[in-house]
Amino acid sequence: MNHPTTLATDYASGALSKDTPEEWERLRLLQEWGDPDTRTALGAVGLGRDWHCLEIGAGAGSVARWIADRCPDGSVVAVDIDTRYLGAEGRDERRPHLQWRAGDIRALDFAPGSLDLVHSRLTFCHLPEREELVARAVRWLKPGGWLVLGDPMCMPAEFSAHAPVRRFFGALERGWKAQGSDMTGWATTIPALLARAGLRDIDVLSRINLLGGKGPYGALAAANLRQEGAYLVAAGLLDQDDVDAVTALCEEPDFTDIRSITVYAWGRKEES
Ligand SMILES: C[S@@+](CC[C@H](N)C(=O)[O-])C[C@H]1O[C@@H](n2cnc3c(N)ncnc32)[C@H](O)[C@@H]1O
Repeated sequence: MNHPTTLATDYASGALSKDTPEEWERLRLLQEWGDPDTRTALGAVGLGRDWHCLEIGAGAGSVARWIADRCPDGSVVAVDIDTRYLGAEGRDERRPHLQWRAGDIRALDFAPGSLDLVHSRLTFCHLPEREELVARAVRWLKPGGWLVLGDPMCMPAEFSAHAPVRRFFGALERGWKAQGSDMTGWATTIPALLARAGLRDIDVLSRINLLGGKGPYGALAAANLRQEGAYLVAAGLLDQDDVDAVTALCEEPDFTDIRSITVYAWGRKEES
C-alpha cells in the first residue's frame, strides 16, 4: 500500500487510486453490487443496436462491455483517466466497436449532437466540475439521446447512532472534501439539473445500501473500509483503533446502519 503523507487533492492519488493494489478487487466488488441496478436503469432507456455511446469513468469496464454487447451495430467509447484495468488503449480485443480511451474527461470533447447515450456511474461525484460536465454531455447528445448518471448520497456521518461510524465517516468526509468529491448532496440535485439542462422524460431509481449487510454491498463496504481506513490512518486523520472499531462493529451479526442511497437518474434530449 502506498501511504500518503497528506490528503490527496485529486481522485487519481486518493484512497481509490489504482496505485493501491486492492483497488482492482474493490472495483470488481463494486461491479457485482452496482451492475444489476445500472442494467435496470440502462434498460429503462432501451438501448438501440446502432447506438453510439460514451462511458465516462469506465473503471474495470463491465458496464462498457455490457453496453457494447447491446449496441453491436453502433459504437462505445469508454474513457478513464487511468485505463490500466481496461487492457491496451484502443479497440477491445473481442468487440471492435468498443474503444478504450485514456484521458481526463474534463479535457476531452466530442462532436455536438453525435451520441445516443452518455453514461457514467460513481464518477461525476468525484469531479468538482460535475455541473459543467452535465451541460457538456447534453451538448454531445443527439436529439432524442439519453444521459444516464448513477451517484451516491452518503449519509452525513453525524446521522449515525454509532460513535465508531461517526468517527470513521466524519474523517472520510474530510478526505473527500480535500479532493473535491461530493458524496452527499450532489446526487440529490441530479434530476433537477438534468431538467435544467433541457432533458425530458426524467426518471430515477434508487438503492439503499446498508453497512453490516451480508449481500454484495456488505462485501463492497468491507473492501471500502479496509482501503479508505488505511488511507485515512496514513494521512493522519484516524487511528488504526478507529478503523478496527468500525470494522468490528460491521462484523457484528445484528449491526446495521444506512450508509448511502445510490441515485440512478436519466433524461432524454428533446427531438428538434
Ligand atoms: C469509483 S470508480 C467507478 C468505476 C466505474 N464507473 C464503475 O462504476 O464500475 C471512478 C472511475 O472514474 C475514473 N475517473 C476519475 N476521474 C476521472 C476523470 N477526470 N476523467 C476520466 N475518468 C476519471 C477513475 O479512474 C475510476 O476508474
